[in-house]
Amino acid sequence: MELDVRTERPGDEPAVHALNVAAFPTDAEARLVDALRGNGALMLSLVAVLDGVLVGHLACSPVTVDADGRRAHGVGLAPMAVAPAHQRQGIGARLIEEGLRAMRAHGPPFCVVLGHRDYYPRHGFVPARTRGLRWEHGHDDAFFVQALSPGGLDGVTGVVRYRPEFDAL
Ligand SMILES: CC(C)(COP(=O)(O)OP(=O)(O)OC[C@H]1O[C@@H](n2cnc3c(N)ncnc32)[C@H](O)[C@@H]1OP(=O)(O)O)[C@@H](O)C(=O)NCCC(=O)NCCS
Repeated sequence: MELDVRTERPGDEPAVHALNVAAFPTDAEARLVDALRGNGALMLSLVAVLDGVLVGHLACSPVTVDADGRRAHGVGLAPMAVAPAHQRQGIGARLIEEGLRAMRAHGPPFCVVLGHRDYYPRHGFVPARTRGLRWEHGHDDAFFVQALSPGGLDGVTGVVRYRPEFDAL
């Protein structure tokens, strides 16, 4: 079995949609990815393909941090989905590592993610509140951040906002 992690290509859209429907309780995340793509807000869309079948997806979109009249720009990893039959086999980990690698090359200075408490610290994330950051909707225990370049979080504190497409979730 060979796992290929690559950027989304034209034609992948229906399979990405179906995967998100399968991985989440409702189709809200699938529609979110479609909306981000349609609005040109996907900074990165990574797919994991196992023996020719799309089994994983990670979306990245811009976030902003506002404090004291200054605005900083970063990237948010969300949503991420792995096909139910293939979860807990390291596919999510590969998507995160490849996503972080690509984002370090692209240049946003920091990355945030909302998710399982035990999971993201394995990939270099720290609780965002320890860096003076909070998600606009709370859930501080599940909100994580990491710098993507040296000093990438210097002076970045305040409220983190995702794209307006996330408001529909
Ligand atoms: C979260 C998700 C993307 C992880 O992908 P994955 O390929 O299963 O992840 P990995 O195999 O790299 O890592 C597995 C780890 O993820 C964590 N994890 C996965 N699903 C979890 C769940 N439902 N609850 C708690 N932790 C979970 C665990 O820490 C697990 O480690 P363990 O098996 O040692 O306990 C996948 O489980 C999924 O699609 N879940 C449904 C959609 C979702 O919740 N997405 C995240 C929010 S955007």
